[in-house]
Amino acid sequence: MNTSRLFIVSNRLPITIITDDQKFKVQPSSGGLVSAMKSYLAGTSENKHNNFSETFWVGMPCCRPAVWSEAAQGIHESKFTYLPVFYNAKAYECYYNGFSNSTLWPLFHYFPSFAEYNTEHYNYYIQANEAFADTMIRHLRPNDVVWIHDYHLLPLARLLRQAMPELTIGFFLHIPFPSYEIVRLLPRSWREELLYGMLGADLIGFHTMDYATHFLQCIQMVLGLEHNMHIIQHENRLIKADVFPISIDFTLFDNAFDDAKVSVQRAGLQDKFKQQRIIFSVDRLDYTKGVSNRLKAYELFLQNNPEYREKVVFILVVVPSREYITKYAERKKMIDEMISNINSKIGTIHWQPVIYQYNSLNFEEMVALYTSCDIALITPLRDGMNLVAKEFVASRKDQQGVLVLSEMAGAARELTTALIINPNDEKEVSDKILQAMEMPSGEQSKRLEPMRKRIADYDVLTWAADFLNQLNAIKVKQQEFQ
Ligand code: UDP
Ligand code: G6P
Repeated sequence: MNTSRLFIVSNRLPITIITDDQKFKVQPSSGGLVSAMKSYLAGTSENKHNNFSETFWVGMPCCRPAVWSEAAQGIHESKFTYLPVFYNAKAYECYYNGFSNSTLWPLFHYFPSFAEYNTEHYNYYIQANEAFADTMIRHLRPNDVVWIHDYHLLPLARLLRQAMPELTIGFFLHIPFPSYEIVRLLPRSWREELLYGMLGADLIGFHTMDYATHFLQCIQMVLGLEHNMHIIQHENRLIKADVFPISIDFTLFDNAFDDAKVSVQRAGLQDKFKQQRIIFSVDRLDYTKGVSNRLKAYELFLQNNPEYREKVVFILVVVPSREYITKYAERKKMIDEMISNINSKIGTIHWQPVIYQYNSLNFEEMVALYTSCDIALITPLRDGMNLVAKEFVASRKDQQGVLVLSEMAGAARELTTALIINPNDEKEVSDKILQAMEMPSGEQSKRLEPMRKRIADYDVLTWAADFLNQLNAIKVKQQEFQ
């Protein structure tokens, strides 16, 4: 039995505590990072690669310690132990809504005009990372393995390395890593500190080869560090940067097709929309997801193909996210207005072209929609991976349905037999909707089959095992080198 323990570290924990005056509510968190890590942990008993003696999930619960203690009494996790990091509300606002989501998020998704450069936000971001390091150092032992996730925590690996040089540290980025031309927009001292922060890890993982290449170019241009076959030599250590396309629990989604609750909900949807074909999409409310472009393309489709009016509905689910950030609140207003315009302009008394839900879905509702729609319309302007695309494909045990997917999603690198579109080209998206509507059943299954095989072969457990094995391998190589 391995005596080392695994510390998964992310800003968001798999549960979110919503506080309101004296009351609090515990709800499951949304987003790809949490989905993937929850699936990984759920599958660990069958995963022979995970032989850690204990697992912790470190994150910020965004509430006071007293509220957390009370909430934690009602939470029972068999696969891991929570390790909360507390940070005061004002500082959290600057770290999370500020530097993480109003500087790094827009920049790394190629929205430089949305990025703010605020020194106070940056300082709180560094302090938040120090708060993570302080909490963790009180618990860590030198032979533990730390797996840090995402852009909120770029400096953390280096902070931990300085305090405990022997630690094994992996870092995985869940969003795109942009080209040097974007990274250089950050003030010099910031970009240097962030890149050195990442280099505190032994292994640095990205979804695609493009992102890994951009990172390697950046450390060369910003820090003057060379690499040899993805291995960087820095401060007498070997560090590896490589590609690990994140995935999903294929079996869970594949089996869900026959689940009783899913079947009942699917039958309900099929009955309700028996006169219509269904286009479906689900995303967090985020300007990167291209919801407004998608709505414009759908409107164009209805204008160009009037024979489809009253014969199609677009079920659009938007999950609330980062609502306190102005750019997100503006996006919500824009989407609401566009939907109401399409429905009033093109809809009739008998037909509403867009059916809109601004709320999250539970697992059964989501799979019922994945498996009853004719088209999954996924059009991000930029997306690190996009797990929704993989979940749709894995759910289609019937090998029916068409994936229309943006070339700007990391997933397009693997799901190459989808109908690939450029989300800025409304005419192309509209034409592909038509092509998908008219696609023969045989072609639908021919396109889905290789994508289903790819996800089944490289599922979330394989992804995690691949990352942890390579982390171990680079550590061994490092010891030989020293
Ligand atoms: N999801 C969720 N609740 C919902 C809708 C979606 O938890 O109401 C999940 C979805 O199943 C997927 C994840 O959120 O696993 C979204 O991941 P994706 O990579 O597509 O986008 P992200 O939100 O991470 O940008
Ligand atoms: C993306 C990010 C995650 C984040 C998720 C939800 O997937 O890569 O780090 O958790 O969005 O966003 P939120 O801000 O609600 O955590």
